[in-house]
Amino acid sequence: MNKIIFGEHIVKSFGEGDEQRNVLDGVSVEINEGEFVSVMGPSGSGKSTLMFALSGTDCVTSGKVLFEGEDLSAVSENELSDIRRNKIGFVFQQPTMLKNLNIIDNIILPSMRDNRKML
Ligand SMILES: Nc1ncnc2c1ncn2[C@@H]1O[C@H](COP(=O)(O)OP(=O)(O)O)[C@@H](O)[C@H]1O
Ligand SMILES: [Mg+2]
Repeated sequence: MNKIIFGEHIVKSFGEGDEQRNVLDGVSVEINEGEFVSVMGPSGSGKSTLMFALSGTDCVTSGKVLFEGEDLSAVSENELSDIRRNKIGFVFQQPTMLKNLNIIDNIILPSMRDNRKML
């Protein structure tokens, strides 16, 4: 089966010095094409942090994330945004719309980047 997402020994820390805390402490995960995977855990256990790491929304402190075989730490910000726009769908807990645009323009904006024609 095709590996879609492969994370190896992912560490993500926040804070510095004495305040530094590993929210993800060596997480490895493999998600294959066609699989449905749920990540469950109490609030604050790092689910969102893991989603952001696996989708290239946020960088990892150490470890590796491959998306369709591509090492996300080695691709440019523009390529990352192409991957997120074309290959990943997110339903956020909180609204993440741009406040200076109305709802329709928020929806259209990603398609405009790809010069896609809207009806
Ligand atoms: N940007 C950040 N800066 C500092 N701490 C963060 C940041 N994002 C998340 N955290 C901390 O990481 C921990 C896990 O958060 P999160 O991934 O949002 O958990 P969950 O989604 O499982 O509720 C929490 O203690 C949270 O306060
Ligand atoms: Mg969360």
